[in-house]
Amino acid sequence: MASPYVRIFDTSLRDGEQAPGASMTSAEKLEVARALARLGVDVIEAGFPAASPDDLAAVQAISAEIGQAAIEGRPQSEPPIICGLARCTRNDIQAAWEGVKGARRPRIHTFLATSDIHLQHKLRMSRTEVVARATEMVAFARSLCPDVEFSPEDAGRSDPLFLYEVLAAVIQAGATTLNIPDTVGYTLPDEYGALIAGILAHTPGAGDVIISTHCHDDLGLAVANTVAGLRAGARQAEVTINGIGERAGNASLEEVVMALRTRGEKLGLQTGLDARQLCRVSKLVSRSTSYPVPPNKAIVGANAFAHESGIHQDGMIKNATTYEIMRPEDVGATQTTLVLGKHSGRNAFSKRLAELGYPLEGDALAKAFAEFKKLADRKKSVHDADLVALSSDERAPAPELWHLEALQVTCGTTGLPTATVRLRGPDGQTHVHAAVGTGPVDASYKAIGAVVQLPVTLLEFGISAVTEGIDALAEASVRVRHEGERSSHGHGADSDIVVAAAKAYIASLNHVLARSSHAPARHPQATGD
Ligand code: KIV
Ligand code: ZN
Repeated sequence: MASPYVRIFDTSLRDGEQAPGASMTSAEKLEVARALARLGVDVIEAGFPAASPDDLAAVQAISAEIGQAAIEGRPQSEPPIICGLARCTRNDIQAAWEGVKGARRPRIHTFLATSDIHLQHKLRMSRTEVVARATEMVAFARSLCPDVEFSPEDAGRSDPLFLYEVLAAVIQAGATTLNIPDTVGYTLPDEYGALIAGILAHTPGAGDVIISTHCHDDLGLAVANTVAGLRAGARQAEVTINGIGERAGNASLEEVVMALRTRGEKLGLQTGLDARQLCRVSKLVSRSTSYPVPPNKAIVGANAFAHESGIHQDGMIKNATTYEIMRPEDVGATQTTLVLGKHSGRNAFSKRLAELGYPLEGDALAKAFAEFKKLADRKKSVHDADLVALSSDERAPAPELWHLEALQVTCGTTGLPTATVRLRGPDGQTHVHAAVGTGPVDASYKAIGAVVQLPVTLLEFGISAVTEGIDALAEASVRVRHEGERSSHGHGADSDIVVAAAKAYIASLNHVLARSSHAPARHPQATGD
């Protein structure tokens, strides 16, 4: 028998957008809605049309484009339901309808608070008035739209007996989905689960409608509460990408979906999502809202599949299931990364070196590993170029055939990025050249290239801060290749990142020259011989 289906209701464009500073333009909302549809969400809450003409226009645009046609790449053949939020007023409900009526599957979502705290301090309404208003407005919404969702706001702190009464009344009035918000993220998982179970058991008609979860993360329990609600019988989860939303945010879509999938045997629930798109959509929402994804964020954070400690790396090399409960490719993450740092072990170090084409064994490996540990103590992360430098003949610093004497760059929003370099060459003479580029580093590299006249391909370029703070010392590391030869690396450090980058490039060119026949004879004055 197939597992019960959980509808994924994404509210990134409504509750998510309510996060301070997370507002999106209409074009950005449309792009996010497109990505959500492709991901396979069942319902997109596209906005709060009564909030502003822009909100209304965005919901209309999403209804017309995303809510109408079949979407390429979407797991389901039918378009998602497009939903608009409305307070329990005629104006709001009418505006929500104007927003969603262009969709093939429109939904009006209306809400009214039911907790005594909200009734007394915010609404200044009696319980009787709340039941009457909710019933009347759900009936009005239903007269416009066949799909109506009702939310008793602050349900998590509402008297359950009053909740059953309100919910029974709105079912009678035509509500098809009952959403149960833990608006202030107050409940604990067992309480929220019991709330959903109580509603299903005691509300007349609850078995004929869909019960939905909507959990906020004020205590960091939004996902746990959502899962508890689903286990208790809810069949829709209201969530947002990256967990964005009011205050501490909403339950994160990617975490809920992957909990259901990874613990499928235990939970026995399924969704219709293509989880391989999760990382891509997460990046899009992060970019559109300017809300960065923390590196340690579950499922989509940069470190979600990264391992640094030696013990973990050793386990991962032997078998990925030792420290990974999901496969990175199943959520669209590129791959597991073994980050080489001061906690890494010899096994991961030698494996990475072998991948880079430098298999080391015995004493050579021991020596390189000892040097790697010293370097890792000084640097936050060790790049491939550092590893190669540690393990090859490149460890010996190349003679400084070319030396950077001066670098001047102009860059910014106006004018062309231009660099002027003064290099002292192997002939002991100074050489000056200026070049324009796409940015200050590119311009500097072009100017240096014009002086040194050694055609190379830039394979790797990295900048990292060696020390902390805005005045940190920057370290650039560069890897280049000259016409089919082995690659050469270079490092450069300076408090100015462009100077550090230029020094690294010159060092890499010096390596190429030192090891090959292109090395020009050094001028006595330049070497001090
Ligand atoms: O958290 C909440 O109560 C809401 C409702 C409007 C559903 O977002
Ligand atoms: Zn909410």
